[in-house]
Amino acid sequence: MKNKKIITFGFFALFTIGNMNAQKKPYLDKKKTIEERIELLLPLMTLEEKVGQMNQYNGFWDVTGPAPKGGTAELKYEHLRKGWVGSMLTVRGVKEVRAVQKIAVEETRLGIPLIIGFDVIHGYKTLSPIPLAEAASWDLEAIEKSAAIAADEASASGINWTFGPNVDVANDARWGRVMEGAGEDPYLGSKIAIARVHGFQGETIADLQKVNKIAACAKHFAAYGYVEAGLEYNIVDISNSKLYNSVLPPFKATVDAGVRTFMNSFNTLNGVPATGNVFLQRDILKGKWKFDGFVISDYASIREMIAHGYAKDEDDATAKAVIAGSDMDMESYLYVAKLVALVKEGKVKEALVDDAVRRILRVKFELGLFDDPYKNCDEKREKATIGNKANIDGVLDMAKKSIVLLKNDKGLLPLKKSGQKIALIGALANDKNSPLGSWRIASDDNTAVSVLEGMQQYKDNQLTFEKGADLIVGKTSFLNEVIFNTTDKSGFEAAKTAAKNADVVVMVLGEHGFQSGEGRSRTDLNLPGLQQELLEEIYKVNPNIVLVLNNGRPLSIPWAAEHVPSIVEAWHLGTQTGNAVAQVLYGDYNPSGKLPMSFPRNVGQVPIYYNKYSTGRPIDSDKNVFWSHYTDVEKTPQFPFGFGLSYTKYDYKNLKLNKTVFAKGENVQISVEVTNSGNYNGKEVVQLYIHDQFASIIRPIKELKGFELINLKKGETKTVNFTLTDKELGFYDNDGNYLVEPGTFKIMVGGSSDKGLESGFELN
Ligand code: BGC
Repeated sequence: MKNKKIITFGFFALFTIGNMNAQKKPYLDKKKTIEERIELLLPLMTLEEKVGQMNQYNGFWDVTGPAPKGGTAELKYEHLRKGWVGSMLTVRGVKEVRAVQKIAVEETRLGIPLIIGFDVIHGYKTLSPIPLAEAASWDLEAIEKSAAIAADEASASGINWTFGPNVDVANDARWGRVMEGAGEDPYLGSKIAIARVHGFQGETIADLQKVNKIAACAKHFAAYGYVEAGLEYNIVDISNSKLYNSVLPPFKATVDAGVRTFMNSFNTLNGVPATGNVFLQRDILKGKWKFDGFVISDYASIREMIAHGYAKDEDDATAKAVIAGSDMDMESYLYVAKLVALVKEGKVKEALVDDAVRRILRVKFELGLFDDPYKNCDEKREKATIGNKANIDGVLDMAKKSIVLLKNDKGLLPLKKSGQKIALIGALANDKNSPLGSWRIASDDNTAVSVLEGMQQYKDNQLTFEKGADLIVGKTSFLNEVIFNTTDKSGFEAAKTAAKNADVVVMVLGEHGFQSGEGRSRTDLNLPGLQQELLEEIYKVNPNIVLVLNNGRPLSIPWAAEHVPSIVEAWHLGTQTGNAVAQVLYGDYNPSGKLPMSFPRNVGQVPIYYNKYSTGRPIDSDKNVFWSHYTDVEKTPQFPFGFGLSYTKYDYKNLKLNKTVFAKGENVQISVEVTNSGNYNGKEVVQLYIHDQFASIIRPIKELKGFELINLKKGETKTVNFTLTDKELGFYDNDGNYLVEPGTFKIMVGGSSDKGLESGFELN
């Protein structure tokens, strides 16, 4: 009886508090719609509190420890307690997140929850392959699953929002951030962008309420992938045609897929910084595309408009960013310092601030943070989720699917499982750190399965390992440059002896994981350090080499492409690298990846991409020098976009169209038969390219417009169907209008961008 009373009283007290809250804080009423709740909250906010929502700070002090004293940390702490911080980044782990969220929710006047952001780029703690590698799978289901695993782990660790996917189309391998995107093609890039958004957020916005989903962020808006000369943070100067047809489509695809946030970019676009760009953010994104989520600046990019020479001073940078539609300031400290005064002085309209705040609140409501600010703060879930078996298995599966077989001339692969002497050579083969890539803030160093460890699991061969030479000198980290060993060859002899005594040599060469990524542009795409020399020395004593490449960008490997019989592109594959590589080398997984970026013959060809233009002199019809070519090297890439081999063989035949003349608006139906005529079961990416042969604005000689990943057992034949509609047959003019013009189209279907079966049709 007594107990019952207590329970009744407890319930009554809770109800009353809840009721009081709903009266004092009517925006907490879950029965109202999100838009109603925003409109109930906004009028209660002071200008300072509104601007606070637009302010994001990087993690700053040991949040679970004592309050900081002095410096920026104290300032940020104070701001947090005043309700002047809307979001934080890089605070992670349930304990830490709960501590900052508690201040926002329990100590500020309105108790508006923070949205906690983090760079979940290719996994949180359990790392999947770098995004460029994942793109090589062309497996949208697997990519979506990989993003879902990342969201699962990140959300279990307190995170509500990832700064991904990076949807920057890029075709300059000198730029270190090509590792973060999906390569050079806007069609493939758009499909992958959608898969990633769905993986992070779920299929619909309502899914954001789920505990294992996080808000996604399409970045970097826009054209960061075209920094001039591949130089990091450089200017971008591109045509409207490139902007509308190559850069924007993946961004638009994310808006259609429901992405809730955008990040702008460090670069200028045709003279105006993206962060202060009204045309990009207001006219296109929020205007034409009707995006109703919010835009965050890139790290300090609002302040950087001063260095760019676009803003006079801090006030000017602040005003320009808000006017252009940058809703949240990441670490420039400018909105919080300057915006209130600018509004009071009439230099920025309060309506613009209100618009930004509505957008930010909308996403917080959609995530359910007002209803449960600690929804991602469950220590039990954190423990059960991070690094669990399902996640490890998931990233291993993704890693295998990301590997691309570039050459297998003498059939060295797959390796025989017993009775072989194998020499494993190269410092990267024994590296547990490099495979994690450079975006791995939540992961512990040296936690990848190395190639050596992966291969050691196949016990019926005799395996010896020799590094040959160290790849790098000293330690490296996210903040430091990688320094290569270019002098110490003391390990060469031992490596040569191992190679001489082996049936097959597996060499793991390439780039260190910290050699690609942000701030890591290069002017040389060859194998760095002593690796090329080591490769040639080993080849002299045993040419039966399987070269396994580890890299975050296309490399130029002309010598290897000519001499080495087997080449496997294994990128930086994350936590499960060694297991994935070993399973592919031993044939337990038949590789099916296709390159998402062209590999140049040398750096001088860069930018090189398959969807190029004909020029007026595409071939040497006059047999003289005056045609579009280089005099010292072929103009084709070493390995083209879409290229990748298998242990089996695929034959294409019977390419058919339902008609040869079509009216505008009619669907073009295409079918092709693909047969697995080799000795292994496998998977093939069947690719469809079009060439619009003449148009009011010239079109590329090939454009990917469809692909399908099919499973084929040995001996099996499948018919693959494609449909081309106006959506695939048109293009954007220089004002951004979509045109479908009559004309003749060539089509090509095959397993790579460089060859396939051809046909054509006319569009009236
Ligand atoms: C990068 C962004 C990243 C941000 C936060 C910037 O330097 O350009 O992609 O999300 O830092 O870490």
